[in-house]
Amino acid sequence: MNKLKLVILISGRGSNMLAILEACNKPEFPAEIVAVISNNPGAAGLEKAQENGIAIAAINHRDFDSRDDFDSALHDKIRSFHPDLICLAGFMRILGAEFVHKWENKIINIHPSLLPDYKGTNTHERVIADGITESGCSVHYVTPELDSGDIIVQKTVSVLPQDTPDTLAARILEVEHLAYPEAIVKIAEKQAE
Ligand code: GRF
Repeated sequence: MNKLKLVILISGRGSNMLAILEACNKPEFPAEIVAVISNNPGAAGLEKAQENGIAIAAINHRDFDSRDDFDSALHDKIRSFHPDLICLAGFMRILGAEFVHKWENKIINIHPSLLPDYKGTNTHERVIADGITESGCSVHYVTPELDSGDIIVQKTVSVLPQDTPDTLAARILEVEHLAYPEAIVKIAEKQAE
């Protein structure tokens, strides 16, 4: 099987990255991780990736004067791994339009809401404040407009009356870990058609 080569971009703990890694460890899974890159050199997920024998790199956005310069360094680093797909998994930097165009239809992201509702940050706080009874996660293609590209997989969870942003985030995280591998399988199947 010709596996999809994934570069995963993270900024923090990397639980979605680990869920993808676990899926990749199954022989029948149609993808493999070629590198994990973070804008945050202290990201806990980087260490976990390294422990699992995956190539890692840190490109600290603070070392660059502009977003364009950061994007360009990130682009070069990613290109050196020749990925088929870039997976944003808790990557907390907005990528500029030029970067996104260079990787058209090759960048996907996971967002903790049922898009197109609740784009942006603080989704759980806003869902709870609005009294919505269902939330979830969306894996979607990345376009220059934030959280707006085509949706690949969504999963729904109930919002309970006693939920806090933390309890809701934890319930959604569980389905994120299923949704991301599913989205990768869908993309691999589409490419094999
Ligand atoms: C996830 O909830 C993801 O949806 C959001 O940031 C969080 C990242 O978690 N964009 P992790 O680093 O994958 O554990």
